[in-house]
Amino acid sequence: MVNDTLKLLKSHRSVRKYTEQDVEPEKVKAIIDAAQWAATSSHFQAYTIIRVDDPAKRNKFALLAGGQSWVEKCPLFMVFCADLRRSKKYWPELDDEVLGNMEMLIMATVDATLAAQKALIAAQSLGLGGVFIGGIRNDLGQASALIKLPELVYPVFGLCLGYPAEQNPQKPRLPQEVIFKQEVYDDRGDNVLIEEYEEQVCKYYRDREGGLENITWSKRSAAYMMAKPRPEVGPYLREKGFALK
Ligand SMILES: Cc1cc2nc3c(=O)[nH]c(=O)nc-3n(C[C@H](O)[C@H](O)[C@H](O)COP(=O)(O)O)c2cc1C
Repeated sequence: MVNDTLKLLKSHRSVRKYTEQDVEPEKVKAIIDAAQWAATSSHFQAYTIIRVDDPAKRNKFALLAGGQSWVEKCPLFMVFCADLRRSKKYWPELDDEVLGNMEMLIMATVDATLAAQKALIAAQSLGLGGVFIGGIRNDLGQASALIKLPELVYPVFGLCLGYPAEQNPQKPRLPQEVIFKQEVYDDRGDNVLIEEYEEQVCKYYRDREGGLENITWSKRSAAYMMAKPRPEVGPYLREKGFALK
C-alpha cells in the first residue's frame, strides 16, 4: 500500500551533511506548528523546544556530544526538553510531590519525543533532512547549563536540520515479524529472522564503508551500548527533581 504520507515516512534516513542554505523562518514555524500537533499525554504538553543559534554554544554542544560536527554546522539546531516545570508553576491545585514520580518522567519524555518525531517528519516533508542527537546526554549538566534549564526540565535530545547535501542509503530495519506480534509476546520464531537480518546489516556496512567494516547489527549495537552506558543520567535527573520515587 502506498500514498504520499507513507512514501515520506518510508523514505526516512538520518542526514548529517547539509548545504549552506538556511531554513526559512516560515518553514521553522511550520515545523514547530506540526510538532505541537503531536498527541500529548492527557493534554499536558510537557515539553519545551529550544532553538540554539549561538556558534559558541553550538560548538560546546558538538563537543559534549562526542565531537559531532553536524551539531555545529547544521543550519538549524533545536533541543527537545522534557518539561514538568510548567506543571509545577501553573497548576496550583497540583500536589507537586507527584512530579517526582517515575511515571511523570516517562510521560514528559514521551511527550517531547512525539513532538520531535512530528518535527522531523514535517521538516522532511518540506525538503529538509535531519538527525536526532542523543549525544547531548553525554553531559546533561553541561547541556542543561548551556540553555539555562531550570529544575524539572531536562534535554532529551537535540535535532539537527538543514537541506541535505548527501543522501545515505537507508539502513535496513528488523523484519516486521520480529517487532510486530499477535496477542502476546512470543519471540520463539525470531532466531532465524535475526540471523538473516544480521547478514543484511553486515552487507549494508560492507557496501557503505567500502568493505572496511564487517560488522553485524548485534555486534555494533552491543559495542555502541557499552560505549555509552551514561550511568550519570539517573543521578542527574534525580538532582533535577525527576524520578525521585
Ligand atoms: C533518540 C535518538 C538519538 C540519536 N542520537 C544520535 C546522535 O547523537 N548522533 C547521530 O549521528 N545519530 C543519532 N541518532 C540517529 C540514529 O543513529 C539513527 O536514527 C539510526 O542509526 C538509524 O539510522 P537512520 O535514521 O538513518 O534510519 C539518534 C536517533 C535517535 C532516535
